Amino acid sequence: MTIKKVGIMTTGGDCSGLNTVIQRVVDGCKRRKWKIIGIKDGTDGLYMNPACVIELTNESFQFASSHLAGSVLSNGNAHTTNFESSARAGKLASFNKRLQKSLHDLNLDALILVGGNGSLSLAHLYREIYNDVQLVCIPKTVDMDVPLTDKTIGFDTAVQQLVSYCDQLLLTARSHHRWFVVQTMGRDCGQLALSAGVAIGADAILIPEIKFDIENMIKHIKQSKRDYGIIMVSEGITMRGHSGKPADMISRQLNANGIANRTAFPEHIQRAGDTVASDRILAAGFAETALRAIENNETYVMTTIQNGEYKTISLDDFFAAGKHVKDPKIIGAMTSNRYVDPDDVLLQIATDMGIYIGEKRK
Ligand code: F6P
Repeated sequence: MTIKKVGIMTTGGDCSGLNTVIQRVVDGCKRRKWKIIGIKDGTDGLYMNPACVIELTNESFQFASSHLAGSVLSNGNAHTTNFESSARAGKLASFNKRLQKSLHDLNLDALILVGGNGSLSLAHLYREIYNDVQLVCIPKTVDMDVPLTDKTIGFDTAVQQLVSYCDQLLLTARSHHRWFVVQTMGRDCGQLALSAGVAIGADAILIPEIKFDIENMIKHIKQSKRDYGIIMVSEGITMRGHSGKPADMISRQLNANGIANRTAFPEHIQRAGDTVASDRILAAGFAETALRAIENNETYVMTTIQNGEYKTISLDDFFAAGKHVKDPKIIGAMTSNRYVDPDDVLLQIATDMGIYIGEKRK
């Protein structure tokens, strides 16, 4: 078997499960007698090569802690030259060239990029950066907005974090006869709010993919004959004629209707928390699938799980499968986005549970 030199980096927002992926990749490389290096801070660190390159050994890292959230390789450094600042300065071409040179100088055979739909879309758009290596991507995000995979690293742990958070809120909610409007992450994808809302049995779940009628939602809350509970609101919802944070908008309407309530913002706690078992299994499956792809000389691919089967798909297919929206940070770049499918079984389950999930599907 040929000895390979593999690099790994984590990019975009962090989430729980990244360290498990890194650990499984390191273990898998060691078993194959391959060399493995880590590039800190993703493409931001790659730009700084060799300053951000580290050897990954079990001695240099406390891998016993691989179930902890965050990434031992860090996820990016907003204070350095990066895609965003280079795009703003009109210097993307030279930034990309420098990344390509760094990879060439590192003499890597393959690079494992653990990223969300933004990073994967950039890798697809600027594929020339990775001309000299086999590029294998592993999808991670709490948003679950990556097309063509049934799961992403970090999603299940984020759902668990929200469930634990809401379990606690419900105790104080009941004591004070008040409702909590909980605003979840997810950008413009409602999967996280939907899953957590079903898991805790929320009274209402509002997601960007489904139009809602505030009067009907309030009627629904009043009909519950309870004076406490949870209304789960995805951060991507909008209300015509209203502005501010989504949870605040809903809270104001509840106040106007005499429903005592408070808002709650779990924020980045959703990206933390000890990695749950299903995310660790996913990390193991994705790591082995990525290493097998390297053995098979694949490149420009992404690992996926579809109907329980682990495999790779091309980055072209990933990009083509989603809805193309403007990258919120990088001028001129488009991101391939996935949304809650109108046939998602959780929508039907939520309806059957008597949860208000809105009116008409957009
Ligand atoms: O994409 C992941 C995500 O956590 C979103 O759900 C959220 O809107 C965003 O990142 C938060 O980004 P930041 O960490 O920059 O505040």
